[in-house]
Amino acid sequence: MTLAGRRVVLGVSGGIACYKACTIARRLTEMRVAVDVVLTRAAAEFVGPITFEALTHRPVLTSLWQRGAALAHVESGQNADLIILAPATANLIARAAQGIADDVLSALLMARTAPVLIAPAMNDEMFAHTATKQNLQVLRDGGWAIVGPDIGPLAEGASDRPGRMSEPEVIVAEAERMIRGADGKWRGKHVTVTAGPTREAIDPVRVITNRSSGRMGFALAEAAYARGADVTLIAGPTALPLPHGVKAIVVDATSELEEAVRNALPDTDVLIMAAAPADFRPTLRAGSKLPRGEGALEITLEPTADVLQATRDKRKQGSLSIGFALETSDGVRHAREKLDRKALDMIVLNMANEPGAGFEVETNAVTIVTASNTTSIPQMPKREVADRLLEAAEELF
Ligand code: CTP
Repeated sequence: MTLAGRRVVLGVSGGIACYKACTIARRLTEMRVAVDVVLTRAAAEFVGPITFEALTHRPVLTSLWQRGAALAHVESGQNADLIILAPATANLIARAAQGIADDVLSALLMARTAPVLIAPAMNDEMFAHTATKQNLQVLRDGGWAIVGPDIGPLAEGASDRPGRMSEPEVIVAEAERMIRGADGKWRGKHVTVTAGPTREAIDPVRVITNRSSGRMGFALAEAAYARGADVTLIAGPTALPLPHGVKAIVVDATSELEEAVRNALPDTDVLIMAAAPADFRPTLRAGSKLPRGEGALEITLEPTADVLQATRDKRKQGSLSIGFALETSDGVRHAREKLDRKALDMIVLNMANEPGAGFEVETNAVTIVTASNTTSIPQMPKREVADRLLEAAEELF
């Protein structure tokens, strides 16, 4: 999920949330973004420029009078892919809205041509103030994007009103969506991703399930959101936190997954079936917990629905359907057979016996099979595999 070659200005104004701006700088740098940090004087009181310089490996701008950076306040905001203001105090928001350019950051904002993402952070009274509301409206009308603020503890104590800056992960996710989504390829596209296992009840406390962790599907949902799509994630039981920005529907049994997919399909432009539905369920579900007893317990299983097959008639015309295939031998042949049988545009082949691929691991190694092509993707983190899969899907639009 590299954003190599992209440039971001991170404008930091003076509030206690400055310490979280360090995480934003670090995370973007890890994504190979060139991050130019610009501090107001108040921000530098909270976190010094050396901290940001060490995190970004780049000089930090703190003043209009900095030697060697005479034009930086103009050039940085014109050459960047995005300007992030985090934290944005009431004072910075007011100066930006009113066109006051009395320090390096506010001057940069007046001269900028790059898009801006604002992450307000302030006391709840300050955020509720009419002046702040009006100033934010001016900026919103000018096309600036706003993330947060959240409701949550403020430096001065608990609050049930917004003021707290959004978490760094959320700000980075929104920033990535603005940068990657700028090409418009996924904008307005409805992507439905299914993820994780399903489970079938034996009795009120016991289930049959499989080892799917949900990671591949969650990574796909995250990656599709980052490209600008509207994402619905239909997830079976997993231990993973729901990704930011997606509409999540949590299901349990294969029949619930089937119903959720059926409901989503008429609006879905791209369906990605990364879930590992349980293929069998007990013929009878005991109403109360089965006693241990003495001898063996026999459970008769019946097949569940093949969700892809059963919901085929609900697919929107012109939409793309992508499936996964988990195989142990003769993978490409079986995958191609599933591509036809399930009427898919693309199938992602996982070999179950390959180390570092498939269930319960952070990485994957897959082969993309379409009607005309077979492409191998070597082992890499699941989020990177997700990006490769979406790039391959783009070619089928
Ligand atoms: N799938 C589905 N409904 C099921 C089982 C699987 O829609 N009940 C979907 C999976 O989400 C995946 C694709 O079908 O996208 C292929 O899954 P896989 O388990 O490889 O294939 P099966 O159809 O279960 O076939 P088999 O077990 O015979 O390999």
